[in-house]
Amino acid sequence: MSTPATLRELINTDLRGAKFIAVSNREPYVHSRVDGEITCSRPAGGLTAAMDPIMRASGGVWIAHGSGSADAETADASGRIAVPPEKPSYTLRRILIDDKLHQEFYNGLANGGLWPLCHIAFTRPIFRPRDWESYKRVNQIFADAVLEEAGDGPEPAFVFIQDYHFALLPRMLKDRNPRLIVAQFWHIPWPNREAFRAFPWKEELLDGLLGNDLLGFHLRYHCTNFLETVDRNLECLVNPEQFNVVRNGGTTLVRPFPISIDYDAHQAIASSEVAEKETAWWREQLNLQNSGVGFLGVGIDRIDYTKGIPDRLLGLDLFLEQNPEYRSKVQFVQIGVPSRVGIGEYQALNAEIDETVEYVNKRWSTNGWSPIVFYRRSFNLNQLIGLHKLAHFCVVTSLHDGMNLVAKEYVASRLDNTGVLILSRFTGSARELHDALLVNPFAIGEIAEAIATAVRMSHAEQNHRMLNMRRSGAEHNIYDWATKILTTLFRFNRWTHEIDDDTEEEAESL
Ligand code: F6P
Repeated sequence: MSTPATLRELINTDLRGAKFIAVSNREPYVHSRVDGEITCSRPAGGLTAAMDPIMRASGGVWIAHGSGSADAETADASGRIAVPPEKPSYTLRRILIDDKLHQEFYNGLANGGLWPLCHIAFTRPIFRPRDWESYKRVNQIFADAVLEEAGDGPEPAFVFIQDYHFALLPRMLKDRNPRLIVAQFWHIPWPNREAFRAFPWKEELLDGLLGNDLLGFHLRYHCTNFLETVDRNLECLVNPEQFNVVRNGGTTLVRPFPISIDYDAHQAIASSEVAEKETAWWREQLNLQNSGVGFLGVGIDRIDYTKGIPDRLLGLDLFLEQNPEYRSKVQFVQIGVPSRVGIGEYQALNAEIDETVEYVNKRWSTNGWSPIVFYRRSFNLNQLIGLHKLAHFCVVTSLHDGMNLVAKEYVASRLDNTGVLILSRFTGSARELHDALLVNPFAIGEIAEAIATAVRMSHAEQNHRMLNMRRSGAEHNIYDWATKILTTLFRFNRWTHEIDDDTEEEAESL
């Protein structure tokens, strides 16, 4: 199993002390001015939580959009600030972008176009030419910053790009500095080639991604979808056996790397007094002592239409209808972290969630008990772990999700090996957490049935399932994810772009 120390060692040996430059749209630490005071917060979402421990181990530079109202004043003139604030170990370089440009790039092309296109969650993607122009422009701005960080010297630099916001960046970088080692991880699904046909600028986008030496997805299935999409749309040589693409003399390896969490650090919090205090806080907040509630369920998500939040609430509603003996005995806490509120679909989803919560609560509430407690706000990791520890079951009902780290976090918090995970089949996590109760989130009957199974499950069965899931979680931590990406890259001879025997063997075993 990899650790921060083994990852650091790998970077210093194989990467020969190369500069380690990460790129993402979302920054890991946001400084905001609230009532005249500057506060620092960490955003919701798997990407920043997963990359922060890796960057701490690498000691490199993370280039990201500066989104906080106090970001500029807390960084130096070039946008650099040492983070984490409490114990700095790497540099965050903030890129400040004009609001309109960023809105067209982020709300427009990235989240109004690519996000629904890749998730196929029945929300129509919108492709506006001006958003595409802004997407290109922002990729260019980031390319300039990366090239500046990498410098012109002979020492190697490794650029690790995150996500669908930067599909054009790899080619822009390679065109201007072919010596860079460039890898990208696509944190969301890649759709089948038929769905991708709707994207208007296919060639440019795919060519951009093929600037990478290595392109990673969570699942093998997403890699295959990508290879088929390229084969259909570009002049190049696609090797489906070797999982690579050769275009204009350059080779891009395409590989699955299921992402994870910092499992040990998560467990350490779960076993600490801090978590105990948070658990006590939730117990009091939810008035669990006096309420007669025997089972607590939890759902924790960014408010996103891919997460299936209304479906889950209606699943709970059906459960209460079909299992009258559990009315007033089950309490469901839904945490929804506001996200992408500038986009119409997200505003509509917020209204739909409010209506659904109201509908279910009106239908079943009695004597001070309401089945759903909804918090539209974020909580920090300690608070979430405190809640995981209290929850008898956790519900993840994404309609489609690259991975879903909430599922892995719940499992990591369950130190006593109890608790039940209800998990959508359409998440990457479902490929690893086989002992969850797997459901089709589009079928609310299955969600209702899974809740009924969860509240009736014996301790022995909970133990058996949870132990298996915890074993799997412990085996694949976030450092393994990064280590696998780096070792795959190093086996590939980036100077000649030839593939060695090991790489071929590894591809054949996929
Ligand atoms: O799931 C895809 C993803 O980009 C994550 O990688 C990220 O944590 C999440 O969406 C949050 O998105 P945003 O940065 O738009 O808030």
